[in-house]
Amino acid sequence: MHKEHYARFRDISVSERILNTVFLLTIGMGYLMALANMYYTHEGLDGKPGLSIEDVVISYHGSSNQTRLGTAINGIMKNNLRNASDKDVIMQWIQKGADEEGYQDKIQAILERDCVFCHTPSINPSLPDLTQYSTVSEVAHAGGATLPTLVRVSHIHLFGIAFILFFIGKIFLLCDMNVHVKRVAVVIPFIAMLLDVVSWFITKTTPSFAYVVVYSGALMGLSMGLQILLSIYQMWFYSRKKPDC
Ligand code: HEC
Repeated sequence: MHKEHYARFRDISVSERILNTVFLLTIGMGYLMALANMYYTHEGLDGKPGLSIEDVVISYHGSSNQTRLGTAINGIMKNNLRNASDKDVIMQWIQKGADEEGYQDKIQAILERDCVFCHTPSINPSLPDLTQYSTVSEVAHAGGATLPTLVRVSHIHLFGIAFILFFIGKIFLLCDMNVHVKRVAVVIPFIAMLLDVVSWFITKTTPSFAYVVVYSGALMGLSMGLQILLSIYQMWFYSRKKPDC
């Protein structure tokens, strides 16, 4: 066995252990509060109580069921459609992401025939402008996080969590365990956090990435929680004799 140069929990004073422990417990509580906050922010967006993958999709990507255009042609504007089956054409286009190609293909003609009569800025400046793709697109897409919001939340998240993970990791390094496992274990929460943040942006355009948001978020929480629990356990309950060297 090679000589050990690195500090372990048995090398630090009781006051340092106390400081480490109150820090880890406070971070742990902060994390539980963050979970509760996340629950209350996203819960019920899909109209059903509780947190579901749908809620995550709606938070980041938005919902094609709640677009202003979709709501209008299913409600107050329904009777303006000369051909009732055009409603399904428009709804399908919205659900597929309301792209410009589809607009030029089918949608523009319908809107020009039935809607722009009123929905032209020169006639009714207060109504949504349905004469061009850019403004139709605004009412055909719904909700979801805006890019500036995501950028703002990400930079706070990355700065804040990097600090937290760094200090938790510094304490965790004092654990007695297989060094290869430890090297991997200190990196996992950082990778999970990066994956989480990157997948917010991808979910904005690709809703199926909501699963990555959830799994990477869970992985970060779990790996962080394990580091905290193992550190506290080893600090107070684990004693290994010093190797005589
Ligand atoms: C006769 C004039 C007229 C026609 C034709 C018309 N609209 Fe409207 N539209 C209105 C008015 C007025 C409002 C505002 C209603 C309100 O806010 O209560 C409105 C509101 C809307 C809104 C916004 C609803 C919201 O979220 O505030 C959308 C979207 C819409 N119309 C789509 C359409 C579509 C699609 C068509 C063609 C099928 C159409 N409209 C045809 C007069 C018209």
